[in-house]
Amino acid sequence: MSTILPTKPNLTADLDQEILVGHAHQSVTPCLPQRADIENLAKLIQSEMKQSPWNNAKHPSGVRQISACIDRGCGSGPNCRALTDAFRRCINGHTMSYYNERNPADFPGLATQVRMRNEQGACGYHSMICGSFLDQLLPNSSLDLVTSNAALHWIDLDHAAVGLPGFAAREDWCLSELADEQWRRFLTVASAELRTGGKLVVSFVAAQSESGSQDHIPLRLIEFGIDKVFGTVRNHWSRPPIPIHLRTSEQISAPFKDADRPVPLRLKRCRVESVNCPYFQAYESHRCATRYADEFTGFLRAFSESSLRHWCELGVEQGYLSPGAFKKIAGVYRHIHTLICSNPEEWRMKKHRAVVVAEQV
Ligand SMILES: C[S@@+](CC[C@H](N)C(=O)[O-])C[C@H]1O[C@@H](n2cnc3c(N)ncnc32)[C@H](O)[C@@H]1O
Repeated sequence: MSTILPTKPNLTADLDQEILVGHAHQSVTPCLPQRADIENLAKLIQSEMKQSPWNNAKHPSGVRQISACIDRGCGSGPNCRALTDAFRRCINGHTMSYYNERNPADFPGLATQVRMRNEQGACGYHSMICGSFLDQLLPNSSLDLVTSNAALHWIDLDHAAVGLPGFAAREDWCLSELADEQWRRFLTVASAELRTGGKLVVSFVAAQSESGSQDHIPLRLIEFGIDKVFGTVRNHWSRPPIPIHLRTSEQISAPFKDADRPVPLRLKRCRVESVNCPYFQAYESHRCATRYADEFTGFLRAFSESSLRHWCELGVEQGYLSPGAFKKIAGVYRHIHTLICSNPEEWRMKKHRAVVVAEQV
């Protein structure tokens, strides 16, 4: 676990700055639909934290309590920072923000952003924890807030392999059952880490699919690009865990209502809605395939390039890629661009989004 200390503590700085979405290492372009999602989550966090019994609370020793939050499946981008900033803005005292991510390649970019943020006058302590969002990473009753944006739809197959309850010995598990079990486990872990009155504010975004077997368009495109550029070396590419189709509101609320195995959290809000692909929607009005491909490829690059770089690093280390491999990465995105441009309709994403708020009781 690495910890970044604030470089310029300033509890009153106005941090209402633009939220940008994109890759940590590139100049980033605001993506309005995602930005609106994050702003909505940030508003929810602010209204929930105002009601926190621990805000500004003092330890029996008289020392003001440090308030803490974690963003699970944080990625490397500014989204997680926007959520922890929203938390910090509501707290009258010191804050600790934990960022959890399974992919260590995301941490250098995030660390740079957190440092820049603190140099701009933000404050608070920040710590990054590499691991699964299904693991308890912090002591019991140590957090005021657990957040997660656009991450929980990823099934953690490693966890399934080592034994989510009920799944250890099964190879024929059903994705939907596994998704239910993962959600329950996530809630149980969050509940252990949250203090009484602590809040959970999460948003799922997932490709819409009736059957659950529909392939994930961004991953398909990325794999086509890797095939084209890296050829047979692609066999070394291990696909990230399979994303699932989004839970319905009944499936999301089930663990809260289960009389036999209830999770010790109170469900306050569960809203599920369909979301149009913003890039395709724009294409329907401008009808320019190149512009659609530019925008959609930019988005794909933003979320996948650090993983691809990480994969190349491993490949060079293990000898199945030459050091020149990094230069080929741009070709992956060029191929994706060509695919999108030549058949825009084929690559239309359909998504669902769910926003859930719960409270530790
Ligand atoms: C679409 S990105 C969203 C990132 C970030 N929350 C945001 O809003 O930009 C999903 C992230 O979840 C991470 N992730 C997926 N499964 C995970 C797991 N089991 N534990 C921790 N992180 C995970 C991925 O590595 C990826 O960075």
